[in-house]
Amino acid sequence: MKGTFLTDVQEIRKRARQHVEQGAVTEGYRADRETVIKLLNEALATEIVCVLRYKRHYFMATGIHAEPVAKEFRQHAAEEQEHADEIAERITQLGGEPNLNPDGLLSRSHSEYAEGESLTDMIREDLIAERIAIDTYAEMARYFGEDDPTTRRMIEGILAKEEEHANDMADLLAAFDPTKG
Ligand SMILES: [Fe+2]
Ligand SMILES: [Fe+2]
Repeated sequence: MKGTFLTDVQEIRKRARQHVEQGAVTEGYRADRETVIKLLNEALATEIVCVLRYKRHYFMATGIHAEPVAKEFRQHAAEEQEHADEIAERITQLGGEPNLNPDGLLSRSHSEYAEGESLTDMIREDLIAERIAIDTYAEMARYFGEDDPTTRRMIEGILAKEEEHANDMADLLAAFDPTKG
């Protein structure tokens, strides 16, 4: 059927009626649903760990330079939470269940929960976590490709945000240590 567009309206309507319990997942869905859900649950764990790490950094940021940095940490925590919600929503659309079990959260996550001692440590750890997220989301987007364009577009949107986050952290790091620009 490759190259031909399904125009038989009757057929499309019949198919849609057949598996209504599958919600948004139709017979035209080409990706491996189980794998997509598993990958999205790993991404969900990653986002939650990022929320927790940025929250921790927000509350622990001290010193004369802390205020603008803490503000940035807080904003990132809120944006990681938005990502987590988007991903959880997509998992349910695909007929899966978002895994929000704190048990095993860290092992499902791609990024680490690094507390960091100084403000610079915290920023560096956040930059590392963002770079991990960028790599894994880029890989995921390639994997979803044309088989699940909706999930791919969502991940690409999140990826763009993580790139902004990484850039923010790199700028802060450079501001604290001009040799590391
Ligand atoms: Fe995120
Ligand atoms: Fe991020």
